[in-house]
Amino acid sequence: MEFLFNGRDIAFEAGQSVTAALVRAGERDSGVFCGIGVCFGCLVVIGDKPVRGCVTQAEPGQVISRAV
Ligand code: FES
Repeated sequence: MEFLFNGRDIAFEAGQSVTAALVRAGERDSGVFCGIGVCFGCLVVIGDKPVRGCVTQAEPGQVISRAV
C-alpha cells in the first residue's frame, strides 16, 4: 500500500501511522518528538487538513504534504 507525500509514493504496512511510514522512508529525521499526539512535531497536511501524523493511520491513496 502507498500514499503520496510531496509527490513521492511512500509505502506502508497495514496499521502503520503516517509518521512511522515517513520515518521508514527517510522523509522524517527530525521534528518527531513524543510519538503520542502531544507535541505536534509531526504535523502534516492531508488534503487541506492539518493532522498529527503519529496518531493518524496511513491509508492507501492519501495525498499528504509537509506542514509549513
Ligand atoms: S510526534 Fe508529537 S504529536 Fe506526533
